[in-house]
Amino acid sequence: MNPPPLLLLLITTTTLLFLTLLPPSAPDLAADRSALLALRSAVGGRSLLWNLTEPTPCNWVGVHCSSGRVTELRLPGMGLSGRLPPATVGNLTALQTLSLRFNVLSGPLPSDISAASDLRNLYLQGNLFSGVIPDFLFSLHNLVRLNLASNNFSGPISTLFNNLTRLGTLYLEHNSLTGSIPDLNLPGLVQFNVSFNQLTGPIPSKLTGEPRSAFTGNSLCGGPLQSCNGSSSGKKLSGGAIAGIVIGSVVALLLIVACLVFICRKRGGKKEGPKDVAIGKQAELSIPVIHLHFAYDISCNLCHQSGDASIS
Ligand SMILES: *[C@@H]1O[C@H](CO)[C@@H](O)[C@H](O)[C@H]1NC(C)=O
Ligand SMILES: *[C@@H]1O[C@H](CO)[C@@H](O)[C@H](O)[C@H]1NC(C)=O
Ligand SMILES: *[C@@H]1O[C@H](CO)[C@@H](O)[C@H](O)[C@H]1NC(C)=O
Ligand SMILES: *[C@@H]1O[C@H](CO)[C@@H](O)[C@H](O)[C@H]1NC(C)=O
Ligand SMILES: *[C@@H]1O[C@H](CO)[C@@H](O)[C@H](O)[C@H]1NC(C)=O
Ligand SMILES: *[C@@H]1O[C@H](CO)[C@@H](O)[C@H](O)[C@H]1NC(C)=O
Repeated sequence: MNPPPLLLLLITTTTLLFLTLLPPSAPDLAADRSALLALRSAVGGRSLLWNLTEPTPCNWVGVHCSSGRVTELRLPGMGLSGRLPPATVGNLTALQTLSLRFNVLSGPLPSDISAASDLRNLYLQGNLFSGVIPDFLFSLHNLVRLNLASNNFSGPISTLFNNLTRLGTLYLEHNSLTGSIPDLNLPGLVQFNVSFNQLTGPIPSKLTGEPRSAFTGNSLCGGPLQSCNGSSSGKKLSGGAIAGIVIGSVVALLLIVACLVFICRKRGGKKEGPKDVAIGKQAELSIPVIHLHFAYDISCNLCHQSGDASIS
């Protein structure tokens, strides 16, 4: 009965040893490496010239490691194209910075990106990503900088952005976002841009201090833009302006006609004498008479124009 317990002890200690010695950093970095290779074959087989015989990915272009994990992946303007599949960036669970800006990536974002819960900086601007801004982004509570500008994102700006309490940069310009801007309550927000979307309605009070250029290219009102009431009373004003323009141009036309009549009467007076003076007198009597003589005035002017150099 003595050997079995000793054997059991041996087995348990060796298995404990394996369990404590094998799992640390090495397998995680191997998992990161395999995720990077999956990404490479999905979106950038030719453009990512990584030396695959190197056992560690930490020296690959765009890859930065810290404490035995891949913590930064920066591949800007590398001609990456196609969709970002699951089990690529989503498997890089220690990632803090992901920059895939200015590539040709399209389709929706992979939902497992939410597994990279340490993500602080997410730069995806200048691609062709589409669909709504997915809700799983709002579980990335450590996000500080989020740039989704110049993509093809559509749908509304979710109130769930308020979940990203550390957000300092939110760039959403040049997409196809619709609806109104929600009441964002993000005290750390210092960089904000939603210009050139299809947003409508009033700018919420917390964002009224942002510059105009952060909102242009939408149908927004209030804040740095024209006040929402101003735009509605602006419509009334523009109606009044139209009436003013109409009345003004009628008056101007009548004045021109009167001048023409006056000029023609003087000219006619010189050449034809009493007959034209009589017409001129009639013209002074009433406006309808001036109208009747308008055609005559023009022909009168035209016939004189050819012979007379002093027409002004
Ligand atoms: C991604 O992670 C999952 C779950 O850990 C794993 O099953 C899968 O093999 C990984 N994929 C890659 C390409 O590393
Ligand atoms: C790739 O890495 C291996 C192992 O580190 C090295 O021997 C080889 O020279 C490298 N190849 C290139 C092209 O850098
Ligand atoms: C947003 O925050 C609320 C409250 O903290 C939480 O219930 C919800 O699950 C969060 N949503 C996401 C997508 O993380
Ligand atoms: C952008 O999305 C719209 C639908 O939302 C689609 O019709 C259009 O083709 C997309 N454009 C690009 C360049 O992907
Ligand atoms: C917002 O984005 C537009 C378009 O890129 C740019 O012209 C404008 O300067 C930006 N404004 C701010 C405040 O970032
Ligand atoms: C807009 O007009 C309404 C009603 O006239 C008024 O209650 C509101 O305070 C006005 N808002 C602004 C921003 O001027």
